Order: sequence, then structure tokens, then C-alpha cells
Amino acid sequence: MTTVMDDVVTRESRFVLQTYRRNPVTFVRGDGVRLYDADGREYIDLLSGIGVAALGHGHAGLARAVSEQAQTLIHTSNLFFHPLQGELAERLSALSGLARSFFCNSGTEAVEACLKFARRYWHTKGAPRAQFVALDESFHGRTFGSLSVTSDEHYRAPFEPLLPTVTFVPTNDASTLAAAVSASTAAIIAEPVIGEGGLRPLTPAFAAAIKEACAKTGALFIADEIQSGLGRTGHPFYFQALGLTPDLVAVGKALGGGVPIGAALASQAVADTLSFGDHGSTYGGNLLACRAALFVLGELFDGGVAENVKRVGPSFERRLRAIASAHPIVKEVRGAGLMWGLELTRDAAAVVPAALERGVVVNRTAERVVRLLPPLVISEADAMDALGRLDAAIGAVGASA
Ligand SMILES: Cc1ncc(COP(=O)(O)O)c(C=O)c1O
Repeated sequence: MTTVMDDVVTRESRFVLQTYRRNPVTFVRGDGVRLYDADGREYIDLLSGIGVAALGHGHAGLARAVSEQAQTLIHTSNLFFHPLQGELAERLSALSGLARSFFCNSGTEAVEACLKFARRYWHTKGAPRAQFVALDESFHGRTFGSLSVTSDEHYRAPFEPLLPTVTFVPTNDASTLAAAVSASTAAIIAEPVIGEGGLRPLTPAFAAAIKEACAKTGALFIADEIQSGLGRTGHPFYFQALGLTPDLVAVGKALGGGVPIGAALASQAVADTLSFGDHGSTYGGNLLACRAALFVLGELFDGGVAENVKRVGPSFERRLRAIASAHPIVKEVRGAGLMWGLELTRDAAAVVPAALERGVVVNRTAERVVRLLPPLVISEADAMDALGRLDAAIGAVGASA
């Protein structure tokens, strides 16, 4: 007898370009923090589709907003005004303190826009600067510009040559950063909490070094908040917790709650150096995406979801620390709010199937790190239930070591 899973796998392996090694699960439905597979098995989601489903799955309000908008008007292009883009930009400005938004469709496009806007800034000033300074462990996306500021050789090597003007410095190494930034640096780019590279918040001392290097050399600062932004760490953006004032901010993932949308936020000084036609996107900021994003931001920041992160985050962290003290294979717990990593003493790959077996969805990143990005609406009870199962999964993996 062939199952739904067999059919899905057979068709995919014949027709889908094989760039993803998928876990052997086919999700067909979601409800809040729960996902259901094709056999009706229930899972608690501690990943949110990699930090996207901040409001959880099957959200009735989001579904209603998207459906109403789809029945009214989905897309008109950026050649015309529509009522929602300015409203969304105003909302993002109030949350971030940055003056203006450019809308696109993904995280990598948001980073791409930030890199281009930084270059444009220096061109307009009449003193072009080419260099970007980025961090070891960084991940900024897969297009040529964002890949050029991504450090992982595994992602970079097959596509070289990339931009030749990028200098990488070790994360949280203030003196190396200070030495790398000069009067030819267009911008420093960093994730305020390193995500893909292993869940590592920047230290206050390193944030101060970024600030000082920018003040000294004029270099711009680009904060990539694609994973860490929009309430995930208990702050609208983690750069705020670090006391940083970026010139550009890349936003994506949770912004549309699953409807693709990204944004490059720019200070007025940067925005003033751009002209009509300098950058663009056919879909960027269309009505459907903006409607979804306005709904998501409303729930996050007016509907109590950001408060939920502050409420559940501390017990989530305590439970993770208890897991770490119970299992010697857990070397370190790192993160903030509801963005956490457990670094193991060995490859974390085996934890993913062990957690799935116990009905919990997690992810392994940077080889040794178990990444946890639950929906921001998760209740304390569901969080403790899921972490109890993760505890058992790590125990099983540790016992088989
Ligand atoms: C910090 C960061 N920047 C950029 C990206 C790229 O975003 P996207 O996959 O939407 O292009 C990601 C995705 O994981 C990310 O975590």
C-alpha cells in the first residue's frame, strides 16, 4: 500500500530540484502551535517554519485578513499607490525608529537592498566606499550580495567568485572589528542575535565596538533582524536591547506570518541619497503582503503576543538550563526571549528525528546546535510539554552516544 508520504516523496524526487534534504514528515494542517502530518499525528512546533509563523498556524484572524484582501485586490505593482504600504511603513518606523521602508519579498532581498542602499549612500556623497565588514558565523541569505556577506564556506564555495570587498571578523571580538573598519568601509553588517550560525547574541561590549567604529569612520551599520526581530527576543528589535542605532535594518520571516514579505528599513539620511528608479520589486509590498503584515504587527504589538514572549521566555530559558544540567552532551544554552540554541558536544543531527518521534519539531543548525524558534503565541503549558519531550529526545541521543 502506498501512503500519502510515498506519493509526495516520489513526485518530489522526480520533479523538484533537489536543494533540500527534507525530514521524512508531510505536514498537512496546523492549529496554533500544533502541526498535523498526513497520518494525523500531532506535533508541537518549536520551529515556526524557521521563525516565520510567529502567530502559530491556522490563525483565524490572519486567514480572514488575507482572504478578504485576496477577494478585494491582491496586486497592482509599485507603479500605483495603494492604501496599505504607507500604513505598514509608518508602523515599522514607529517600532524601529528608522524613517522609511522599502518592501520586498524575502529576507535575502531585504539584505540585498540594505547592501545596495549602503553603497548608494556613499556614491551619492561623492566618495564611493566598497568594503563591507561582516561576522564569522553570519548568515544573511543566498543571493549574490547577501551570500557575499555570509561566512559559511559550504554555502559560498560553489558560487565563487562573490563580492571581493568583504572582510570577516570573529563574532564578539571587539578589537579585531576595530582594526577591520576604516574610512573605506561602506557598512558593517551583523545579526544582533546570530541565528543560523549557532544562536549567539552579540555582547554589549561588541555592540559598543560597532558603535565606536561607525562613529570613528562614518561606516554605516546594517542590522539583520530577519530572524531576531519583531518581538522574538522580547524586544521589537534586538539592536534596541544592545543600544545600537542602525542606519539600515533588514526585516523578513515573521513579518507576513507566512505570507512572503521583507523590508529594508532606512534612516532618513540614507533614504535621502536614493532616487526614483534606484531599486525596485514587482511584488514588493503588494496589497496582500501588506495586509498580512499589518495584521501580524497588530497581533504582536497591540494584541499581547510580544508580552507573551516576556512572560514565557524566562521559564523557557529555565527549562532549557535544566535540560543542560541533566545532559552532559549539552554544552551551552544561548539566546533571548523565544530564540534559543542548545549547543551540544557533538553533531546535533540525531536530535531532530528523536524529537519528531516524540511529537516535537526542532531544527539543527551550525552542526552542533539545536535551534528553537517556537511560535510567539506559545503558552507556558505547551512550552513545558514540548521541552519535556525535547529533554527525553536529548536523553535518548546522549544514551546512544
Ligand atoms: C538572519 C537572516 N538573514 C537572512 C536570511 C535569509 O532570509 P530568506 O531565506 O527569507 O531569504 C535568513 C534566513 O534564515 C536569516 O536568518
